[in-house]
Amino acid sequence: MDKVGYYRRNALPLEMHKVCIVQKTEILPVEDRVKAIRRAGFNSYRIDSVDVYLDMLTDSGVNAMTNEQLGAMMIGDDAYAGSKTYFRLAEKIKDIFNKDYFLPVHQGRACEHMLALAYVQPKPGSIVPMNFQFGTSVGKIKYCGGDFVICLREEGLERQSSDPFKGDFDLEKLEKVLKEQGDNVAFVRIEAGTNLIGGQPISLDNMLAVSELCKKYKVISILDASLLQDNLHFIKTRENAYQEKSIREIVRTMSDAMDIIYFSARKLGFGRGGAIILNDKKEFEYIKTFVSSFEGFPTFGGMSVKEMEAIRVGLDDTMDENIIAQGPQFIEYLANELEDAGIPVVTPPGGLGCHLDASKFVPHIARTDYPAGALAAAVYIASGARGMERGGIDEPWEDPNVEPYGAMELVRLAVPRRVYTVSQMNYLIDRICWLYDNRELIGGLHFETEGPHNFYDALDSNSDWPERLAEKFRADFGESL
Ligand code: F0G
Repeated sequence: MDKVGYYRRNALPLEMHKVCIVQKTEILPVEDRVKAIRRAGFNSYRIDSVDVYLDMLTDSGVNAMTNEQLGAMMIGDDAYAGSKTYFRLAEKIKDIFNKDYFLPVHQGRACEHMLALAYVQPKPGSIVPMNFQFGTSVGKIKYCGGDFVICLREEGLERQSSDPFKGDFDLEKLEKVLKEQGDNVAFVRIEAGTNLIGGQPISLDNMLAVSELCKKYKVISILDASLLQDNLHFIKTRENAYQEKSIREIVRTMSDAMDIIYFSARKLGFGRGGAIILNDKKEFEYIKTFVSSFEGFPTFGGMSVKEMEAIRVGLDDTMDENIIAQGPQFIEYLANELEDAGIPVVTPPGGLGCHLDASKFVPHIARTDYPAGALAAAVYIASGARGMERGGIDEPWEDPNVEPYGAMELVRLAVPRRVYTVSQMNYLIDRICWLYDNRELIGGLHFETEGPHNFYDALDSNSDWPERLAEKFRADFGESL
């Protein structure tokens, strides 16, 4: 990242782009925000986007594109088979990742579906060791008759820490699993970075060590590179051995160590879609059979050629340090400002978004009353920003009769790239500081339906706390939105 110093203040995140097209947005009055969150059943996935001021639910498919990406979309070749667009994107992928074969699919979870069909389904009861789980990944593995084993270092689950690579594998644990399970291992999944523990990165040295173990035990290594942009920034800025290397060199080293790489282009490449890339022709032909059955003809595989052209250009932006630094810098800014105000956030700041630690923000709310869900609703009421609950509500159920409570109760405030400005982040920080000072007004939630729950379920508040929170807001802010 090019260094920009300041004369009168400490560093601020600085945008390395100018804005050419804008979309209007509105802030509802606080009373209407309470009505909207009630209508949405206290579930941020169910809030209509017209009711949202800052949409920080996800960074998936909502990053701003460049004029060059939009321009490239116009040269998309819509041929059903053998499209020029496919070969242009394949060439770009070869240039960046040094892999010969590429299969396009409609989004990241489709990559996971194809890989689970190819490697888990033929071996019922097989397992997939991984640094950490992600819902769509383990969903497909289980659907195909397998299971997963988490091999994260224990330090990865510490919410407040100075460990720069909380996404690293516990190599001893991984080796033990590979040794004991032998042929029963379908593949090893490496997530760079780890979404559900706060977008925390994995170091390149750790990835290389995992790859060596895979070679030793003759197991396929598969890299989930959906969140790679931020992870690359963290390798470059936090891992001493690679500070002199370019992003392209880092990617090449990582890629050469992995058998298969897949990614959601909704995140990587600033587009929409997904890709599976590999060097082994036989494996490519094998996975291709699933792509043509479930996704589309293998030169488009469920993607629009316009998106494929946008990804081609977006992958070059992903190699630009100034561009990929922006997300982590905004997240760091949010996290540092909140932490300075005494507000519990996951540290060190990771990628994807800033994560509030609900178990410390609202310690008076029991886990059975969904602290992270309640805090996400309260953030919406206080600011009109929609984040995502990452806690008990989101936790996958193993047994329909036993409600699971996961490792953490977090609220993720994702930072879509190039979409919001520093002044919008300052507004959000202000509202969260107000909320923290009034946190005792936040109450719990309960489901309106029996378990197991899913993304679309409705909840209700355990009391009229949302209305009381809005009254306090009105008393403190007067006429302000
Ligand atoms: N892998 C990781 C690490 C992800 O974060 C995601 C998506 C996927 C795979 C699946 O990709 O959405 O294109 O099907 N994460 C989004 C999020 C949904 O908001 O965290 P997809």
